[in-house]
Amino acid sequence: MPIASHFTVKPLHKTFACEVEGLDLSKPISDEVFEELRDTLHKYGVVVIRNANFPDDKAHIDFSARFGEVEKSKYRNPHMRPLPYPEIFDISNLDENGNVVTKSNEKRITAIRGNALWHADGSFNPRRTYVSCLRAVELPPPGNGGHTEYADARQAYDDLPEDMKNKIKDLVAVHSFLHNRQTANPDSALFKGKNVLDEPLARHKLVPIHEPTGRPVLYVTSYAHHIEGMPIEEGKALIKELLEYASQPKYVFEHHWANNGDVAIWDNTAVLHRATSGIYEGKYKRDMRRTCVMDSGKDAFGLNNPEDAINQRNSS
Ligand SMILES: [Fe+2]
Repeated sequence: MPIASHFTVKPLHKTFACEVEGLDLSKPISDEVFEELRDTLHKYGVVVIRNANFPDDKAHIDFSARFGEVEKSKYRNPHMRPLPYPEIFDISNLDENGNVVTKSNEKRITAIRGNALWHADGSFNPRRTYVSCLRAVELPPPGNGGHTEYADARQAYDDLPEDMKNKIKDLVAVHSFLHNRQTANPDSALFKGKNVLDEPLARHKLVPIHEPTGRPVLYVTSYAHHIEGMPIEEGKALIKELLEYASQPKYVFEHHWANNGDVAIWDNTAVLHRATSGIYEGKYKRDMRRTCVMDSGKDAFGLNNPEDAINQRNSS
């Protein structure tokens, strides 16, 4: 087991994801410890910390701000709980009254289905998301599902055949929030009849370089609708092929949440993720809260006009 100088790093998968042990986040950590944790995140893409125990939302935000600019939600969904800090995104299955959402709550259910498709948070935005930090406040009883899956988008790229690497190395994917929601909810009246090409689009390199490690990333997500300069259907087929490829079981690690206070931190510029369903849905409370840190790297804005980021959507 690799020993960092301030904590222990336990790899969770052959190529990525780790658990950090011996790190107490119930109080602020020093710059030195933080830098070691950030390096660990860059290397592994996903860091799980059991019983991290942020004392409250504020501590969760302050910790996240060590990584960079924490995203603030621009609007509050009236169908969600009014949490006190705009930096805290409600990832729970609770409605505005604190009750467990059911299938009849279409606005919430369609979003939950969208998050169950492979994605990187915020890829549909002109400025993409760097780190997400998800914290379990109240989990359903054990054995009721609600795991989070991660895929190693750097290893997936490394393993591509050379001819595919050459084919995709300079391509640009065009991302759309609506595309993910339509794919996840083909029968929902909320998205029917809307044309992705009429809605905001974001252009990001299909193979950006993960700056901290210098490794190329297969930045293909369920928000990617088509490929710039390629006939739409051909681009869609390529995206589907690459998404299926990158999410093969050998690239996937499934994180099982265990304790209230557990935290998972991931680098959206290196890994993909998705929520999984479970029998807790419609039945047990699952209170999860997330912060997002905006990307400040050279690919942060992709090929988009940075000014368009002023109006971008909340990360999802
Ligand atoms: Fe997400």
